[in-house]
Amino acid sequence: MRVVITEDAHTVASASAEIVCQQLIDQPRCVLGLATGSTPMLLYTELVRRYRAGQVSFSEAKSFNLDEYVGIDPAHHQSYRHFMQQHLFDHIDIDPVATQIPQGLAEPNIECRRYEAAIKSAGGIDLQILGLGVNGHIGFNEPTSSLVSRTRIKTLTRLTVAANARFFQPNEQQPYLALTMGIGTIMDARHVILLATGEHKAKAVKAMIEGPMCAMNPASVLQFHSTVTVVLDVAAASLLDARQYYHWAEKMRAKTVPKPFQSLA
Ligand code: F6R
Repeated sequence: MRVVITEDAHTVASASAEIVCQQLIDQPRCVLGLATGSTPMLLYTELVRRYRAGQVSFSEAKSFNLDEYVGIDPAHHQSYRHFMQQHLFDHIDIDPVATQIPQGLAEPNIECRRYEAAIKSAGGIDLQILGLGVNGHIGFNEPTSSLVSRTRIKTLTRLTVAANARFFQPNEQQPYLALTMGIGTIMDARHVILLATGEHKAKAVKAMIEGPMCAMNPASVLQFHSTVTVVLDVAAASLLDARQYYHWAEKMRAKTVPKPFQSLA
């Protein structure tokens, strides 16, 4: 696992944008796995900026989002489809039909099977972007999720519902069911990049990187993935015991690893 500790949320966004852009430059027809939530918002802003500056194109890429609320219309302003259009897709040159998000209005079991098959027929995910829940969830794989799970319907924990309440109006009904890629689906991605910022993520970050691997902490399964890059700000990294080592390893990597390989873990 490569652990990159940068100053703040802005440097997390630029360091991860560098990795995403390098992927698109090396392999323009790549398949991206995308996340919603607060954490990747600055990354998407940075990707839009780089696209507008002519530094990167998404025209041949495909994308699959991690999750979507059940029972929500894609046109609804709380849907993850809406989020992605607003923060990324509407501002870049990605082909709209190449962007997939689980369909919250479809029959869940059929939709989950369709989604898995679509990822497979696209050739699998080359670069998966993840955020991290305060309880260690990735996608909406809540604690106790099977570590080999595939795309399916999940009930959100009260903690996750509470954490996401900030996106909803007080009188708005908040979904508590979601369709989510499984942990097995995420683990099949060729490269995983997880972003976490803020002190409120520090405990989950510590458990993911330095804790034991267990289903109570779904993100800890990433210890078993061969190519993971975790990009943190100082606050999210504050509880890591081996912080000094991660800094040192990055310094040495910059000196010794040839540039084209630096984005790999
Ligand atoms: C979003 C997702 C979630 C979030 C996580 C962190 O598609 O799958 O796992 O990444 O809940 O959310 P934020 O970034 O809002 O703290």
